[in-house]
Amino acid sequence: MKVIASAPGKLMIFGEHAVVYQRPCLVTAVSSRIEVEIEEINSGFSINAPQVKDVRFIEETIKVFKERYKISSAKGLLIKTKSDFSSLYGFGSSSAVTVATITALSKIYDLNLTKEEIFKLGYQINLNVQKVGSGFDIAAAIFGGIVYFVTGGQVIEPIKTKKIPLVVGYSGVKADTPKIVQELKKKIDNKFFKKRADEIFDEIKNLTQSAKEKLIKADWLSLGLLMNKNQSLLTELGVSTKKLDYMCQAAIKAGAWGAKLSGAGGGDCMIALVSDEKRKLVEEAITQVGGQIINVSAQAEGVRVKIKI
Ligand code: MEV
Repeated sequence: MKVIASAPGKLMIFGEHAVVYQRPCLVTAVSSRIEVEIEEINSGFSINAPQVKDVRFIEETIKVFKERYKISSAKGLLIKTKSDFSSLYGFGSSSAVTVATITALSKIYDLNLTKEEIFKLGYQINLNVQKVGSGFDIAAAIFGGIVYFVTGGQVIEPIKTKKIPLVVGYSGVKADTPKIVQELKKKIDNKFFKKRADEIFDEIKNLTQSAKEKLIKADWLSLGLLMNKNQSLLTELGVSTKKLDYMCQAAIKAGAWGAKLSGAGGGDCMIALVSDEKRKLVEEAITQVGGQIINVSAQAEGVRVKIKI
């Protein structure tokens, strides 16, 4: 049997970093996907995943999956990936490949896992390889759409709303998310910063909760203002960069309702919320300060499966 599963990448809309510290975030799945094809073969084990930057996510998934579900089949596996997104942009290719691999394996071994079971396994694999992370990217790859998420999957709530009008700009710098998360943790361990960091995370929590309401009402003007406030707090945490700041400022000056970095900071992407009328102007403004516009759309479908006998 041959199974192909594909899972989407993600973009953080609100709440990055705070979600590592028991606060909520809002994340959207994006239209860029990674496809994992798994075929049972007579023996052996081979991975051909040229677009995956770290194949440990696939190896660990196979290992943990076989242990958890006591798979004793003597047959081997041939695993191939295809992707229409670069791991450069910070769209979560590792979490997407993990989710697609678990889903394909669950079909191969006829296990019919629920989304919650896939989440638990995916999150564990993510932590085994990466050591840090809230699991929001795993949830986005599974559930798709927009998800309101609290650390480790304490809450995973799909949000129904209109199409969110985002422009995505890449800063040209690849961010190392685990490193940035660990550096922030070190900074927070310093007692002089701890109190303020806690206040910032609470402010981000309040913003994220208001953003959820505004998002449901498709109140883009208010949502944009909340994005700008979230960006100021991320700047105070020290995770933004000059380039990301310039890109956000340029977007707002050109008429965006709001703009902020998306993800860990230190590089990767920013997002701007824009009306159809202003989209072109905002895209030009971001390009003028050295950003690169990435054409992805939000609220993509979660993991899906194709089976070939
Ligand atoms: C990175 O894209 C988002 C962080 O909040 C890390 C995480 O939640 O795993 C910084």
